[in-house]
Amino acid sequence: MTAVAKRQDMVVHQRDPLNAESPPEVLGAAMQTPLDAFYMRNHGPVPKLDASTWRLRVGGDVDCELELSLDKLQERFPPRELTATLQCAGNRRAGLIAVRDIPGEVPWRGGATGTASWRGVALRDVLAVAGLGSEAKYVAFLGADVSEEADPPQPFGASIPRHKAMAGEVLLAWQMNGRPLTPLHGAPLRVVVPGYIGARSVKWVTEITARAEPSENYFQASAYRLLTPELDPDLAPPGSGVALGAIAVNADILSPADGSTVAAGPIEIIGYAFAGGDRHIVRVDVSDDGGARWRQAELIDPPAPWAWRRWRVTFTLPQGRHQIVARAWDSAAATQPERAEHVWNPKGYANNAWPRVNVDAV
Ligand code: MTE
Repeated sequence: MTAVAKRQDMVVHQRDPLNAESPPEVLGAAMQTPLDAFYMRNHGPVPKLDASTWRLRVGGDVDCELELSLDKLQERFPPRELTATLQCAGNRRAGLIAVRDIPGEVPWRGGATGTASWRGVALRDVLAVAGLGSEAKYVAFLGADVSEEADPPQPFGASIPRHKAMAGEVLLAWQMNGRPLTPLHGAPLRVVVPGYIGARSVKWVTEITARAEPSENYFQASAYRLLTPELDPDLAPPGSGVALGAIAVNADILSPADGSTVAAGPIEIIGYAFAGGDRHIVRVDVSDDGGARWRQAELIDPPAPWAWRRWRVTFTLPQGRHQIVARAWDSAAATQPERAEHVWNPKGYANNAWPRVNVDAV
């Protein structure tokens, strides 16, 4: 386990637990987000795990329980590698807070996301050896960190439906961007669930359990759920609303910055777009007049189901104030809702409204 120091210009929202997002210019610079700038989302203290004594237990509704050391996991199953975007369900929450306050939640801008190459083994291969029982409709994960944010305090956990667990792309990963996973990102082993909200990619995983029902863990049953606008999240019983899974089509503008002053004339607008599930981005439109007229942006990165596509377009701005807006389309022809007001929800998840940036050209 090696530590990678994070850049000084990370946007730190909270130190304990550590919650920090990437600076926008780093996200725009390369398809793969460098490790020293990759966002960090924690609900408790980072656990100190010794890779030599750490074990992964696989149990629940399986034919044969497994207990695997990291060496055993690496010896027994073929390695797999894929590039996947991780995106927190709270990414772009600041846009929802601007509509109506969301107390107690991290005010993420558009940097609670990043793209990395992940190396590990396929969860499907491990579950095939354990033998999933016929009643196992869900596969749950448990991490080694204990979160005081949960009620009652408990380790971080999540679950995914059986079809996703067996789809092949879900990894148990020990490498990120060709380097050993760092403690902050889940060493010695983390789950990577491509196309699903980041909360399902459990770090420091110690237990995998096949179950008939979704996990009862606080972070599956109470948090990371889309509640209706009138619900008070403190009073809503566990199981209210919709558990978030696959990520809806989304995009953000990385440059220019909102509120900035730019030179009149040609200006390059850069951003990212991402669609979860097994969809990918097929088109991004950009407008410099608040959405009255649109032009298609150039997609920089190749189409891939689990990864974002950065995009760019150049507009020639005359002097004055301009509102730059973007909207992405995915391979299911879904596009983004126009306004944050339309998607506001009490915990501030899944803001995929058109990103808007106001600039003054002088
Ligand atoms: N796993 C554990 N054990 N504890 C956590 O707090 N946070 C989740 C997920 N896995 C979390 C976790 C959330 S909400 C996100 S968005 C991603 O990890 C963030 O992963 P990263 O910190 O490696 O970027």
